[in-house]
Amino acid sequence: MKFSRRDFLSSGAMLAAAGVLSPAVGMQPQEQAAWDAYAAASAQKPDKLLDSEPVLQVPAETSMGVAFAVNALSNGFADVADNPGMKNPSRFFCEGVPQGKIDERVMQVRITGLKPNTRYWYRAGAAALSHPVGYWTKPSEIEWTRVHSFATCGAGGASHFAVMNDTHARWDAFKLVTEKIRALGVPVAVWNGDASNTSWKRETAVEIFLKPQGSEAYAADIPVLFNNGNHDFRGHANMHLDSVMMTRLPTERSARDWALTRNFAVRQGEIALIGLDTGEDKPDRHPANGGFSRFERYRTMQTAWLEDQFKRPEIASAPYAVAFCHIPLFDSRPEANPGTILEDWADWQKQCADEWGPVLGKNRVQLVVAAHKHCYRCDPATPSRPWAQIVGGGPEMGSRGSGANKIPDTTRFPTVIEGNVSGGQLEILVHDVLHNTLAGRHVFKPRNC
Ligand SMILES: [Fe+2]
Ligand SMILES: [Fe+2]
Repeated sequence: MKFSRRDFLSSGAMLAAAGVLSPAVGMQPQEQAAWDAYAAASAQKPDKLLDSEPVLQVPAETSMGVAFAVNALSNGFADVADNPGMKNPSRFFCEGVPQGKIDERVMQVRITGLKPNTRYWYRAGAAALSHPVGYWTKPSEIEWTRVHSFATCGAGGASHFAVMNDTHARWDAFKLVTEKIRALGVPVAVWNGDASNTSWKRETAVEIFLKPQGSEAYAADIPVLFNNGNHDFRGHANMHLDSVMMTRLPTERSARDWALTRNFAVRQGEIALIGLDTGEDKPDRHPANGGFSRFERYRTMQTAWLEDQFKRPEIASAPYAVAFCHIPLFDSRPEANPGTILEDWADWQKQCADEWGPVLGKNRVQLVVAAHKHCYRCDPATPSRPWAQIVGGGPEMGSRGSGANKIPDTTRFPTVIEGNVSGGQLEILVHDVLHNTLAGRHVFKPRNC
């Protein structure tokens, strides 16, 4: 039987498109042969098309991103419903117009039009794409993950978060950290940088963010707010990290801030979570940066962005405001490296402290959560610096150095920093996940007190 254009257009997904096309007309023999070959070709798919669990990311009040790995050129999908039985789902596919960003390794699907502070159920999937006739593309059946769930951000949600940092592809530490975050049952986790070491190949980034060994489903139900660390800029693949980890929706920022793709300011319950990027740990003129870095300009661009976030009603009205950045904004030691000199590397980031510190103070941000130093500490607020700073630990597991230089160090353990509002105050618990003990507890009054 001949396969006609009318048959094709009247089937399935092409039905909508048919309305804008002219009625079918007779085909030339060569064209008829192409249509027949397309119809007869099997839609090819590897036995196992999906190659990772879904990783929820870039959470917002009305949108959510999900990325996952595949084993062949595919289009990705997410079916999303407001019930665990997945009745009447909405379907989303690889982000982008006029064509979705199909890919041979990473699917990135943006779920939009969601309600704030609402639980949804979803499954991710992919259809392999083959080309039986020239560039004509034929999708396979969709291979699906199991059903997972998430809650969108919003002022009405749980005032609860957790922070992970400096995992550096150490899978033993990564497993302890992510299992703790799952046990805490937080609605959102901040991943405060140095997920990477140096990533020359995209596959390294895929393994770090989408396929962490032993922790594959770490973000299938708890979305991550990823914040760059200095190591997340190192290596050619990290310059294209947005091909693995999605960036914030462009509609979240003004045209002036077009380049600030990872900065976030979201309301989670009574807490405003604000993400700032301290960039590399050496000045732009350092030879390691090869003459193409603009971190100093980038930090200043974020200063204007930061000022504006506090004009947003949902951020201005938040009883608690916590800023997250990778490199600390303060170090009490006079000899600490400020990141502005060519020697060694930054202990703290002076430019960010000078530019962002007063904005944070003026807007009564109670706490900065930083990372980078691989050792937990707390710098309480002072009259001249009204925000406290907590620095997370990890990934070293009770020692420092490596090889023959490895020595025991009880101050070196991975942490999960948990924030939770209860009893009219923000309680920060610093969990030592190596020894399964509490390393620290800090409390903060509301901003309007
Ligand atoms: Fe680090
Ligand atoms: Fe770092």
